[in-house]
Parts: sequence; C-alpha cells; structure tokens
Amino acid sequence: MQIVYLNEKFLPVEQAQVSVLDRGFLFADGVYEVIPAYGRHLLRLGDHLQRLQSSLDGIRLSNPLSNERWTQLLNELISKNDGDDQSIYVQVTRGAAEKRAHAFPVPVRHTVFCMSTPLLPVSKQQLLQGIAAITLDDIRWHACHIKSTALLANVLASQQAVDKNASEAILLRDGMVTEGAVSNIFIVSHGVMLTPPKSPLLLPGITRDLIIELARSNAMVCKEQEISEHALRGADEIWITSSTREILPVVTLDGKIIADGKPGAVWHRMIDIYQEYKKRLRSGEES
Ligand SMILES: Cc1ncc(COP(=O)(O)O)c(C=O)c1O
Repeated sequence: MQIVYLNEKFLPVEQAQVSVLDRGFLFADGVYEVIPAYGRHLLRLGDHLQRLQSSLDGIRLSNPLSNERWTQLLNELISKNDGDDQSIYVQVTRGAAEKRAHAFPVPVRHTVFCMSTPLLPVSKQQLLQGIAAITLDDIRWHACHIKSTALLANVLASQQAVDKNASEAILLRDGMVTEGAVSNIFIVSHGVMLTPPKSPLLLPGITRDLIIELARSNAMVCKEQEISEHALRGADEIWITSSTREILPVVTLDGKIIADGKPGAVWHRMIDIYQEYKKRLRSGEES
C-alpha cells in the first residue's frame, strides 16, 4: 500500500485529498523536490533541502517545516513504504484560500504533500545503447532555477520528444544550451566534461553538482562553461543527468548520430564512479 504524507498525517494515497481551491491546483503556486533514496538512505538530503529553501524564497513562501522535521518525516515516509530504493516527491503550495485571487492570501496555510514511488533502475538497454534526444527552443520564463510546479512548458517539450521517439528534449535559448526538459546537460569535448554554469535559466541539479564533485575528486577535467548549439552538435559525448535517470548517454540528436553512436568512454568512467558512490550511500558511508 502506498502511504503518503499530507499536512502532518500519513495516510494511504487513496485517502489523501486537497481542496479544489488549493493554489497549487489553481495557479501552480508551489514548489517541489525529487529526492532519490538508495537502500533507504536519502541522497544529498542537505542539498535538496537547501534547494527547496531557495525555491520557496524564490516564490516568497515561508518554509513550513524545519530541516530537522523534514528529515524526520521523509525518513518516516521511507520506512512506511516498500522497496529499498525509493523516489521521494515533496511539494509545498501556498494552500487554499477562501476565494480565487492572484495575490497572496493572508494568512497562508501551506499544503505539504510528500509521496514515495519505487525508484526503478534505468533499463539495461538505455544504458548499453544510449538514448535519442531532440533539440527545442527554450520557451520558458527567466526563473528556471526555481523548482516550480508550473511545468507546462517542460510537459510540452517532453511530449514533443515522445512524439519523435526520443527520451529527452535539450533546450536552446539564443543558440546556447540551457538544460533538458527534465534533466541537466553535460557534453564531452576533447576529453573535457562541460556543463552550463548555474543561472536563472536552468535548474541547479543535485545530480549535476554531484557529478562535478565526483569528476574533480577522480582527476577528471570538468568545467562549468556555456555550450553553444554548434558545440553540442559537434560533441564527442552528450549526457543527460537527473535524480531518477542518473547519467544517460545521448547517442542521437535530432535523428543524427553523435560521434560513433555509442555511449562514450568518459561516460563509462563516470557511470562506474557514480555506481560506486551509490554503493557507499547504501551502506551508510555517504550522504
Ligand atoms: C528541468 C530540470 N532540470 C534539471 C533536473 C535535474 O535535477 P536533479 O539532478 O536535482 O534531479 C530536473 C530534474 O527533474 C529538471 O526537471
């Protein structure tokens, strides 16, 4: 049975109900996090809570819970659900008000919702063969660093990828790569890993940061640097990264083969390092 957390209560998902006047429903007035847990250990919880705080600050919504309380409730949620590997979804909205009006209600009664779903391993086929991606114009707003539930542009981009039998859409703004519809982007060029620097135009991915840290501690060269469309199309390797898909190699872009059409050598090295990190996390040696 899937147990979720809603406003101080743990209950079966079928019993969890939110008002139709919730501003999350009416205005997408909320923020969220997705935190993977391996062997029931949350990956980089401190970083996720920090990003949650910065998203809340970005929409001028107070944090309803202390970090201690978040930690306690998320671990309790994990213990109440099946499976050693879980994907934890956290959402905070500005709650329901008496009437629908755009400006903030006074007082605010947050809606806090958390759920766990099984974190399934990435398919062997995707790992061995790589994935297809398309490019699209990035039509989103200028505050993509906020992990907002207003995801319609990302939803439409993801569907355009599906329509073209691709697994991700890589977004370009003014000829430069920002990120994927649901991921961050790395390329490898002449042995050097590159990823766009943090800015309001992309989400500061926790997986992205972890990969940069792991690369540097393993003497791999990794730079945070703008990536032009030209550099993307001519890259030796392209990867997408996210909490649930980890690091996936892109082998075709807009139907054209990248390099030799196989996951590259730098990706192989990095995915091994990432799997080692997960092993240590599972045994409680890492956070
Ligand atoms: C738009 C976008 N960028 C980047 C990411 C990767 O972030 P993280 O590594 O924290 O999962 C995601 C994750 O879902 C995302 O939706």
